[in-house]
Amino acid sequence: MTAERPANPTSRSTAAPGGLLAGRRILVTGVLTPKSIAYAIADACLDHGAEVILTSFGRAMSLTERSARRLGLDGPVLEMDASRPDQVAAVASALRERWGGLDGAVHAIGYAPEDALGGKFMTTPWESVAVAMQVSAFSLKTMAAELAPLMPDRGGSLVTLTFDATVAWPLYDWMGPTKAALESIVRYLARDLGARRIRVNSLAAGPLETIAARAVSSFEGLKDAWGHVAPLKWDSADATPVADAAVFLLSDLSRAVTGEMLHVDGGFHSQGGAPAQIQLPEGPGE
Ligand SMILES: NC(=O)c1ccc[n+]([C@@H]2O[C@H](COP(=O)([O-])OP(=O)(O)OC[C@H]3O[C@@H](n4cnc5c(N)ncnc54)[C@H](O)[C@@H]3O)[C@@H](O)[C@H]2O)c1
Repeated sequence: MTAERPANPTSRSTAAPGGLLAGRRILVTGVLTPKSIAYAIADACLDHGAEVILTSFGRAMSLTERSARRLGLDGPVLEMDASRPDQVAAVASALRERWGGLDGAVHAIGYAPEDALGGKFMTTPWESVAVAMQVSAFSLKTMAAELAPLMPDRGGSLVTLTFDATVAWPLYDWMGPTKAALESIVRYLARDLGARRIRVNSLAAGPLETIAARAVSSFEGLKDAWGHVAPLKWDSADATPVADAAVFLLSDLSRAVTGEMLHVDGGFHSQGGAPAQIQLPEGPGE
């Protein structure tokens, strides 16, 4: 068991007294602007009663701090470059001191150098691939190794964000193999942390308009494809469906789910192409 939690100054006063994550301590990485997927996740976690701490790094810090204020968080944003094991360890120490433990963490970190994206797959140098892999995939293992010891006997939950890497995407280039590595790391972490009741899962989101998405030059085309193919349609300006699924994966409702990739993409992944124009039978009506 972990030590008793001190009162946490990072909870906004509007946090629900109950909720799926009532009293759960959640670390959220990857909040840059209010458009960040992680922003919607942090917001949903707070709505469900969680206590939330954000991380950021380097020049992104001031943007994250602004987002934190908008979320109603008044505690400090912790510095964590996910490619720096010393900074990940320092975050674990800060969480131990502040909360005495941790119930869940969200890894919403993605980066690839410019020459690893946009049609340069055949010429990208290993050095750029290595950076993309370390920041976007290996960092999940780094975080898991430091954060798992903070999780109580009842277990915990790690959630990451992917863009379904079981297929190749236009111009996504080395982010594709990087996401494939991330999805595999999810399965290996699920294997190694399952005995401690720590679950590890990914959310395969459809295209969402964020800063990271701007780096993917095929984004507009992907967005259009989603609009035609996804049976439930898809709003690329709305990350809240992804955030709601993250709440599920962070909560006890998903207590028997691990090593999973859950698509939150309007059903795009399940279709082989855009639907033909057919006349559907009338429903029963009211
Ligand atoms: N936007 C999409 O269409 C989409 C779809 C599926 C999955 N994703 C994934 O969601 C995650 C979040 O991205 P987003 O789209 O919300 O964009 P975003 O730009 O808002 O977030 C990316 C985050 O990664 C952080 N980051 C980059 N390098 C880092 C490092 N070395 N250490 C720590 N943090 C670092 C940035 O500071 C930023 O907060 C990424 O893994 C991305 O690949 C995005």
